[in-house]
Amino acid sequence: MDISTLPWWKTAAFYQIWPRSFKDGNGDGIGDLQGVLEKLDYIKDLGCDAIWFSPLYPSPNADYGYDIADYRDIHPEYGDLELFKQVIAACRERGIKVVVDLVVNHTSDEHPWFKASLDPTSPYREYYFWREGHEDKPPNNWLSVFEGKAWELDPDTQTWYLHVFAKKQPDLNHENPKVREEVKDIMRFWLEMGVDGFREDVITYIAKREGLPNGLPLPVGTGIEHYTGLPKVKEYLKEYREGALLPYDAFTVGEAPMMTPEKALEYIDETAGSKTLDLMFHFQHMEADSLLTDWVPLPFNLIKLKRAFNAWQQKMRGKGWNALYIENHDHPRIISRYGSEKYRVESGKTLAAMYLLQSGTPFIYQGQEIGMVNTEFGSVDESKDVLTYNNWRMVQKVRLSEHNFLKIANRRSRDHARTPMQWTAEKNAGFTSGTPWFAVNKNYPEINATAALRDENSLWHWYQKLLAYRKNNPLVLFGTYLDLAPLDPHRYIYVREYANQKLLVMLAFGEKPLKMKLPEGFGNAKLLFSNYAAPETPEDTYTARPYECRVYQVG
Ligand code: NOJ
Repeated sequence: MDISTLPWWKTAAFYQIWPRSFKDGNGDGIGDLQGVLEKLDYIKDLGCDAIWFSPLYPSPNADYGYDIADYRDIHPEYGDLELFKQVIAACRERGIKVVVDLVVNHTSDEHPWFKASLDPTSPYREYYFWREGHEDKPPNNWLSVFEGKAWELDPDTQTWYLHVFAKKQPDLNHENPKVREEVKDIMRFWLEMGVDGFREDVITYIAKREGLPNGLPLPVGTGIEHYTGLPKVKEYLKEYREGALLPYDAFTVGEAPMMTPEKALEYIDETAGSKTLDLMFHFQHMEADSLLTDWVPLPFNLIKLKRAFNAWQQKMRGKGWNALYIENHDHPRIISRYGSEKYRVESGKTLAAMYLLQSGTPFIYQGQEIGMVNTEFGSVDESKDVLTYNNWRMVQKVRLSEHNFLKIANRRSRDHARTPMQWTAEKNAGFTSGTPWFAVNKNYPEINATAALRDENSLWHWYQKLLAYRKNNPLVLFGTYLDLAPLDPHRYIYVREYANQKLLVMLAFGEKPLKMKLPEGFGNAKLLFSNYAAPETPEDTYTARPYECRVYQVG
């Protein structure tokens, strides 16, 4: 396999920036593009050569940029278009690709299209789903992903609009050709400016099942089956790909809740000739300690985690390409979930090796590389996330106390991923010289990038070494993948094989000592990575320490 012929995104490692909390360059307490410019070398040194920017557009911030009020500009809090062009140029100089978020399932209710659509005679009316209700009831009983009904009444016209997410996020009607022209035009706008592609937000939601008179059909349950993964999604995506993306050779990664490998291949199979996306962000491996949503916690289940990884590794093989991630702005910190705050660095290293040695394109979320962990909220008011507030409103109806609600939120809210990046041990973790928009995690004197860079055994250096090892390495890129103990609840042991090379990844999960046994065929292997002192040549058996990781290579 000639690696030089691969598309760039198959050999790249992405760094995700959630701009508001990354780095403040002007002292107003909010992360911005000036701050990003200051940290590009940091990202490059880590070994990342692509950046995914969460939304940078003007937004009332009901959902921090995932509610867009203008698709063709930069939020003044972050800078302006000129500054963004400088960021692109600075990335180019460093060989870093730039991918931006494309949020077209919905706009903000403050977008001019939506404001115009309030007038029933406006051509923008059909940009959204405006429907008649049934007396004082909404057109159907769909529920929003965030809270309550998926419909909001406009009192003036006595009509309802659909919002699958927050009520400030009205859904766009992609069935309207004018909306599709807008989407293609937005794509071209950013591609002309020099971006390399898009991360497409909840992209499998962009088609809705219509059909009954007076609006949309009445479902049982939340209605989600009427707006998830319908055949029309692929039609729209094909049009976007052919009409806007292909001429620029642009990259796309789609976000898709409830996605399975089989369904993903309908979008990303490279052998089928009908590909509509390059990569797919699925959620299956993010549900190993919860029931469908992070907010319904269950004990961590390693078998479930491996089942998800195994399915995606095996089913994408020779057909599609995996997107590998364990953190982003929508989930609490991974060490606090699947690892251990007590063994923060050790478990962080094990989790990093676990996913970075698999086949696919890795994504690292800001702060993950220094082992940031969940924070602690003393009251709901300290939260910043619409989802936390909506959940709080909902559970108040069943009289859950704030104390008990916080027990869940302190483990499960998205806020944990959104506290400011911890750069130094100085005031505000060096994130801002002003007052941070969101409280910095109190642990910053210990957990920060400066300390991590200074310590050659830090998690940061571990990430750097893993990324350097996997870069252009055919064994990691194309090797077969086999889980040797899929039903073991504490050990994750997998083997990669390519040509005459073999990689053995032995991971112990949990704080208790665990007996480990070397699989056959690794007697002559050499130690590549270990998060505790370990012999250079493998032992037949050993007792693993908490979250011990040993990685060996043959050939
Ligand atoms: C997925 C995004 O990642 C999340 O942050 C956002 O709240 C929803 N889509 C709605 O846009």
